[in-house]
Amino acid sequence: MSEGTKKTILTCAQPTGQLHLGNYFGAVRNWVSFLDDHECFFGIVDQHAITTPYVPAELRRSTYRTVALYIACGLDPAKCRLFAQSHVIGHTELAWILGCLCPLGQLERMTQFKEKSQREDAGFVGSGLLFYPVLMAADILLYNADIVPVGEDQKQHIELCRDLAIRFNNTYSETFKVPDVSIPRDGARIRSLQSPDKKMSKSDPNQSGCVYLLDPPDRVRKKIMSAVTDSGREIRALPEKPGIANLLGILAAATGTPVAELEAAHAGKSYGEFKAVVADAVIACLEPIQKRFSEIDGDKAYLDSVFKEGADTAQARAYKTLAKVYRKAGFVPRPR
Ligand code: TYM
Repeated sequence: MSEGTKKTILTCAQPTGQLHLGNYFGAVRNWVSFLDDHECFFGIVDQHAITTPYVPAELRRSTYRTVALYIACGLDPAKCRLFAQSHVIGHTELAWILGCLCPLGQLERMTQFKEKSQREDAGFVGSGLLFYPVLMAADILLYNADIVPVGEDQKQHIELCRDLAIRFNNTYSETFKVPDVSIPRDGARIRSLQSPDKKMSKSDPNQSGCVYLLDPPDRVRKKIMSAVTDSGREIRALPEKPGIANLLGILAAATGTPVAELEAAHAGKSYGEFKAVVADAVIACLEPIQKRFSEIDGDKAYLDSVFKEGADTAQARAYKTLAKVYRKAGFVPRPR
């Protein structure tokens, strides 16, 4: 397929500097599968990262670590655009325009906003947190993305993006494609090993529930061996067995084997034996990522060159969209 006819993939992640199994199986690994026959843009959303309290020096460091991790996970900069959101003019500009079309109530009803703003340790809740999904819609529409690959937790945000694209098109005339969401079959919702009713998350207060891609093998094994299960013996992915179902999901994602086959293959094993299998599979999956990461992490010149190339291409595309949007919105053209 030639450049112009390829479909556009756009997705982003926050610069936590610490991707976990949920980010990998639910997102990044799925992104790699698009590289060869799509035009791919992968953003590191540093402007989203400041919607909750943060430390600037850590954000800077985490942004570099995150791009290094992306590359280590297989996002080859020769095949895609890796960019930092703040390097591209247009994300916040488009967000403003979309925000003027977005009903306040729809933002107040967003699950992630409610969860984050109502947490006991939420502290200061800025209006950026409420506006977050509008900025996310702008990230997507700025590139006129056809497909947005994400984990299940982002589905509601993508729905809002689709609504805003339609509302803009209806208000001003056809401008944006209404993007489709792509959610992986396995790994779409990896849960905390300690609280399998919650998604695996960096903000989990119990960190032993979260396996990071850079965790050394002994730590990965320890976390998986101490995963919460139940008092039964059956290795089945049943709703009343969320812990075992989660481990089966992780094993399915790590090995590419469907859950039903895994249930049959491990029937009769003890939970301890089964967990050891899961630990081995995850460690094997992480080994090449950790090796590649150690080669490029700290090579600031290389990572800066990746950011520059990504930003240059992303910016060219962003300016085109923004010019069109400004014209449709009735803004006077900028005098040259
Ligand atoms: P973020 O940074 O929280 O997560 C990055 C990606 O990882 C997926 N993910 C998971 N998948 C399965 N199981 C889990 N436990 C799990 N945790 C995270 C997420 O679904 C996501 O795909 N708001 C977004 C970032 C964003 C964005 C965008 C995404 C900003 N603008 C535009 C797509 C398009 C976020 O915070 O993802």
